[in-house]
Amino acid sequence: MKKSQKEGRYGRIYKQIEKLFEPHDNYMSAMATVAAVLHNKMDYYFWTGFYLLDDDGELMIGPYQGSVACIKLAKNKGVCWAAINRNETVIVPNVHEFSGHIACDSKTNSEIVVPVRDKNGKITGVLDIDSRDLDSFDEVDKEGLEKIVGLIY
Ligand code: SME
Repeated sequence: MKKSQKEGRYGRIYKQIEKLFEPHDNYMSAMATVAAVLHNKMDYYFWTGFYLLDDDGELMIGPYQGSVACIKLAKNKGVCWAAINRNETVIVPNVHEFSGHIACDSKTNSEIVVPVRDKNGKITGVLDIDSRDLDSFDEVDKEGLEKIVGLIY
């Protein structure tokens, strides 16, 4: 997809989600809505969902769309934990070259993970998106998704 096409689509999705959320105070419902809208609007997304930090500091599956995913992610391993530990979005053009990548589905070839923050800026989990193609995600996805994730709390 062309850069301008991607930008346009993220802009429209942002507006749609913003409308759907008004008013809301339930982050779990918000996450379910974000996963459903994104997954159905972006044709290169193969798996779209959230992993949430629980009270024991474990990363557990949250609302998602796509094939059945791992329920719990081994601590400090893989792309989702890398995004939490680095405190920033992580783009992986080829998951087979990312040491420690956790493959919930062998069809995944590239991935982006965006930290989700509450109103105080504390990371509560991540949005993880997988693609069957190599090199699906770039700065346009990063910017679009960080903005959308900012609507959750
Ligand atoms: N690949 C992720 C695990 C979650 S699945 O992609 C749904 C990781 O390495 O953290």
